[in-house]
Amino acid sequence: PRVAVLKGGLSAEREVSLSSGAGCAQALRETGYEVVEVDAGHDLALRLSEIAPDVVFNALHGRWGEDGCVQGILEWLRIPYTHSGVLCSALAMDKTRSKDVFRAAGIPVVDSVLASREEVSERHVLPPPYVVKPNNEGSSVGVYIVREGANAPRLAETMPQQVMVETYAPGREMTVAVMGGRALCVTDIVTDGWYDYDAKYKTGGSRHVVPADLPAGITEACLRLSERAFEVLGCRGLARADFRWDEARGLAGLILLEMNTQPGMTPTSLAPEQAAHMGISYGELCDWLVRDASC
Ligand code: DAL
Ligand code: MG
Repeated sequence: PRVAVLKGGLSAEREVSLSSGAGCAQALRETGYEVVEVDAGHDLALRLSEIAPDVVFNALHGRWGEDGCVQGILEWLRIPYTHSGVLCSALAMDKTRSKDVFRAAGIPVVDSVLASREEVSERHVLPPPYVVKPNNEGSSVGVYIVREGANAPRLAETMPQQVMVETYAPGREMTVAVMGGRALCVTDIVTDGWYDYDAKYKTGGSRHVVPADLPAGITEACLRLSERAFEVLGCRGLARADFRWDEARGLAGLILLEMNTQPGMTPTSLAPEQAAHMGISYGELCDWLVRDASC
């Protein structure tokens, strides 16, 4: 079968996606697929009509590629594609609205509000410490941490007009990949500062403890909450749930930060690392995603 691997794209996570896409394309070639790599630009629909792939492997991250837009084009063209569909992608990418869904399902999340860029720059929208993030980006692009005693942040012009302001959740950073509804394992992410863009993608930028050394009850809670989050958003294929755990508060200190429906597939990425720990190679994971594709 012919597989078109979508990579690059138009979002702030373009470089990450180029790396994910190159890795997936190579792995699929080694498995025996005919692979065409497609840098997803404005002519995407036309390109796909010309290539006429049997399946699209979506290796895009961020806006347009992870938020239901590309998924909508693929539905329209009736080409089966990997990962989540239109509604789930749009919902997961909207951090505020996906939290409403999680809350309604009894999944613990941290309080947040949507505010304009001006409001956030003028005054503290929430009592510090808090975090300001684009409502719809990934990889920690455009994330501001406002500590106690600090002034309101001056947001960059490149920030969206509406941003999410979220109470700062202290504690350990943990993540769980979910493959076809089954949670793989828990990774504890150890960084010197916080898990920002460099810590995510520079070799040695962070240390991943797989599986995390946690009390059994916390591990179990992470796994079940991840599966529940996958289910209530209506995810498909592979997704990854990010958590914070404030150890001092026990189980009450565990919160879901967000669900990523297009988890990174780069050499430093977390989901393939968890798959490997469970005995699923990178190539097998990519092959499974292609077989799982639908529209
Ligand atoms: N947003 C990045 C790609 C991730 O979640 O892995
Ligand atoms: Mg994310």
